[in-house]
Amino acid sequence: MASPERGVMRVGRSLDDSTRTGPPIRLQSSLEAPIMAIGVFDSGVGGLTVHRKLVDRFPQADFVYLADQAHAPYGGLGGEEIVDLTRTGCRRLFEAGADVVVLACNTASAIALRRLQQTWLPEYRREVDRALNVLGIIVPTIEAATGRGWDQGPPLDGKIEKLEVLGVFCTAATAMSQVYEIEVQKRREDLAAFSEPCPGLAGLIELGAPVEELKVVVGDHVDALRRRIGRYPDKAILGCTHYEIVAPLFEAALPEGTTLIHQPSATADALERYFGRHGEYDLGTAGRREFLTTGTPGRQSDLVSQFWGEPVTFEAA
Ligand code: DGL
Repeated sequence: MASPERGVMRVGRSLDDSTRTGPPIRLQSSLEAPIMAIGVFDSGVGGLTVHRKLVDRFPQADFVYLADQAHAPYGGLGGEEIVDLTRTGCRRLFEAGADVVVLACNTASAIALRRLQQTWLPEYRREVDRALNVLGIIVPTIEAATGRGWDQGPPLDGKIEKLEVLGVFCTAATAMSQVYEIEVQKRREDLAAFSEPCPGLAGLIELGAPVEELKVVVGDHVDALRRRIGRYPDKAILGCTHYEIVAPLFEAALPEGTTLIHQPSATADALERYFGRHGEYDLGTAGRREFLTTGTPGRQSDLVSQFWGEPVTFEAA
């Protein structure tokens, strides 16, 4: 499957592939339009890991989070379904006042982002007469893992002194897209990426499964990767935002020498750079925090509360 964020690098932007040129546009929306915000989207609670870092980085900004829990998990769904659900989620966030939607979901970023940027967003922008964008989280993560950003030119040629191994734990859909392998190879010839699908893990985390059960599942997946590639990876990415909720379990299952790349911080860094280049987006200033779900509204699991530091309650989308 084609890489969804490949166009991003060609145009020199790490989070989007907008080809708009000219002065920044800040089109006047209708007087009834809600205040502007950053939208954060995931199939469920996993995107909260990215959301947490974004809130810390932009404390004054307004945020609307949408969990598509009615359709989670996405990892085993077909490509077209993931595209349709992601488009519906983005539309809902734009209607809730988001100027920019961050797909805090690797599966949606891998499968749907490029399609939406190319085939839906230009038309939707015209329809609503606003400057809007949808951004992904995979390229920022790969930039953090490879140390090579969009402005650093093609990969260096030359002798490979030492081949490093990067393990990517992710959903089946993300693994099948091969996005991590493709994007890493474009930047670093001395880093070999191997995606390890962990079917079922996001669903267990979404349901707030007991830590003891999650520990066994995480251990099995780390071991499966080790057996497949004959060694532990030098670096690892938790390439599903749900897994960051149980990052300590991955840390415990991996040897001390394995460096874990944290996707939420990588995304916050990239978004800060992005907003530095795009003054046209109004992020709001009221510190609004809204949590919406397409599923059953209410308090999320204890696992989520422990990660977030207090209970998180979703409202109906
Ligand atoms: N948290 C999402 C991801 O990063 C989706 C997991 C799922 O719904 O299967 O891939």
